[in-house]
Amino acid sequence: MKKTIAFAMAAIMLLLCGCGAVNSDNGSGDVTEATSDTTAKSSNTPRHKVIIDTDTGSDDAAALVLAALSKNIDILGITVLYGNVSLDKAAENALMTLEVCHVEAPVYIGADKPLKKERKEMVSVHGKDGMGDQDLIHPNHTAEHGDAIDFILDTIKSDPDEVEIIALGPLTNIALAVQKDPETMKRCKRIWSMGTTGFGVGNATPVAEFNVYNDAEAYDQVLRAGIPMTIMGLDIMGNEETKFNKEELSKMAQGNEKGVFLSKAFTKLFAFNQKSGNNMMLPDPMAVACLVWPDVLLETKSCYGEVCTDNDSTYGQVILYEEGAVYEAMPQIGSYNLDVVTKIDTKLFKDSFMSVLTKK
Ligand code: BDR
Ligand code: CA
Repeated sequence: MKKTIAFAMAAIMLLLCGCGAVNSDNGSGDVTEATSDTTAKSSNTPRHKVIIDTDTGSDDAAALVLAALSKNIDILGITVLYGNVSLDKAAENALMTLEVCHVEAPVYIGADKPLKKERKEMVSVHGKDGMGDQDLIHPNHTAEHGDAIDFILDTIKSDPDEVEIIALGPLTNIALAVQKDPETMKRCKRIWSMGTTGFGVGNATPVAEFNVYNDAEAYDQVLRAGIPMTIMGLDIMGNEETKFNKEELSKMAQGNEKGVFLSKAFTKLFAFNQKSGNNMMLPDPMAVACLVWPDVLLETKSCYGEVCTDNDSTYGQVILYEEGAVYEAMPQIGSYNLDVVTKIDTKLFKDSFMSVLTKK
């Protein structure tokens, strides 16, 4: 690991602050203090101590920006894995994004493939480098020597029932941590996962969402691990109001340093969505927004989730049984193991998000 003097200083500050991430900015980029009347104000909400687990493509990077600049979130560390891009690219993209935010947090390397299967070939909707292929990625820092799985376990062990995980990619790292030490993982306060189709349709297949489809076995193991979990599914991004159009993209491009960076990183993602006649979906930042601006999260439903792991066309589908619903087939439903987000304040999310990227 290349340790610069600045990094050592940051580590000292980290110890003094008692938190993982250090903002070397002068505070001007703070997300939580959004100023416009329409943006969320949540400075009185409790801080979340989080590990962010990410397969850093462009929308993960946007999620990292929100978390890194938020007063409500202490990033204890970032664990990366394969998914949108290969493991090494995911690490570089995460490191670069932190640098653009002037925030330092340790980045740990995790899984480079799913638990049981070889990595699937998928169309990268984020570009070959995961960040729009705009030659944006030249991080000065490198990842830590330690392993992501040990970092997750050690962090939870040292602060039981306090640490939350925001998972923005396949759940392979988290499943490996569960396999290694299930008791410690039960002391994880909550997992916030961008994953599943919710109650809608898939993007990897008609029934499966990308993060689950990459490693359905991992998703299954984590759902059974007895850890409180909130799921933000794809359906939440489903309506047009939630998506980002050309005008919004150009506002980001004329915005601040983060806005310029992300607007370039979104190049391929935007083009991919436009090809099918849609505006751009950003599911990962929306998941983080629920913690950054709690007023964004309007409703969750308690569900029992079952992951399809058979090697057929159902692979990666997650069946959600709603608590209180009556099913005529009378299926054997296990304990309600999930809170599934069913409603968010779209306008609040979008206004707040745009404000972060355009406020100078
Ligand atoms: C998920 O897949 C990836 O493309 C995004 O980063 C997000 O985590 C949406 O299905
Ligand atoms: Ca992702």
